[in-house]
Amino acid sequence: MRAVSFAVSIIFMFLIEAPWCLHSQSDNTASGPSPEAVVPSLAAAYEHYFPIGAAVEPQSLNTQGDFLVAQVSSLVAENAMKWDHIHPRRGNDVSSYNFSGADAIVDFARQNGMLIRGHTLVWHNQVPFWVFRGDSGTATRAEVLERMREHISTVLTHFRGKVYCWDVVNEALSDGGGTWRVESPWFKAAGDDENGDGIPDYIVKAFEYARSADPTARLFYNDYGIEAGEKLEKAYSLVKALKEKGLIDGVGIQGHWSIYSPDAETVRNAIKRFASLGVEVQITELDLSVYRWGDSSSLTALQPNLASQQAARYGALFKVFRDEAAVGGDAPSSGHGKLSGVTFWGIADDHTWLDSFPVTGRKDWPLLFDVDHHPKSAFWAVVHW
Ligand code: XIL
Repeated sequence: MRAVSFAVSIIFMFLIEAPWCLHSQSDNTASGPSPEAVVPSLAAAYEHYFPIGAAVEPQSLNTQGDFLVAQVSSLVAENAMKWDHIHPRRGNDVSSYNFSGADAIVDFARQNGMLIRGHTLVWHNQVPFWVFRGDSGTATRAEVLERMREHISTVLTHFRGKVYCWDVVNEALSDGGGTWRVESPWFKAAGDDENGDGIPDYIVKAFEYARSADPTARLFYNDYGIEAGEKLEKAYSLVKALKEKGLIDGVGIQGHWSIYSPDAETVRNAIKRFASLGVEVQITELDLSVYRWGDSSSLTALQPNLASQQAARYGALFKVFRDEAAVGGDAPSSGHGKLSGVTFWGIADDHTWLDSFPVTGRKDWPLLFDVDHHPKSAFWAVVHW
């Protein structure tokens, strides 16, 4: 049925030239329609499943603006809402904050009817040193927590009614032994557990401050590598404990994966596991590198066999996402755990953080569109089912 209605809508699009359609000029890796075919909209294809989002910089609005409007229904700031961008200087007056980049993204999203995710309030990276420095030496636990409270309150008040959810705490779990990322400056300043609830105080406080600053925002814990293994268990326990306190609404599985792993059933298991806690689940930073983790070799072009593997993996993942989606009015706010959003970390291969991570200056091709914004095989695998 779905295939038939999709075919009908493609023919219809040819006839009416819907404004959200773009013309594809080339697709050298495609197994999809002919080069001149009309490119459907990802967001429209998934409108009955979940919003499709993309991470953007303020300048992306110039380089990718119309294309983003055509393809996605949600935006997140790739960097512009992080502490070092939004609150670079010590203090709590207007001159300490810089909302310009974030506001440009929010205004653009609102003008185009898009949702906005908030990313991120408390993270060990991209947070200025002054946050942890006192008048003489290291700031006290109380000083750091007060700065965190003031920051969260100011930022959530500024975006209230505009940003529908926040990654309140990002990447607080350890990759190796032990549960917590103990080298984080947040953990060092306020990672103790005064109330004995088993969670470092800075994490609980961040959620409490966010809840009271904007009770309408949906609050997320966000991390990478939490789809499997011990880190899944650690994240499950953290989310469970925060849920029991009524402080959390969702968990973000970042989704910085590769064309080799994880497999789609691993991701399904993780979504189900978190959803069983009654929280919503989102894939928040999706991209599939063409390199294996730990491989430092460089390619000069996306080879056809890798493009096909990427298409197959994206297709299998989106099948899982559709299966696990909050479909049919089962809205995330209803309290039923389900997949409620998928956000790519970028939109096209002309702009991806993987060009400088984990190997600086190495080209990667992790997204659904190529450097010229034309659909790759992976795009067709995601919109044709
Ligand atoms: C990355 C950005 O994409 C880069 O531009 C920046 O230099 C570093 O941060 N996990 C996260 C994101 O939660 O905020 C990171 O974004 C990627 C990993």
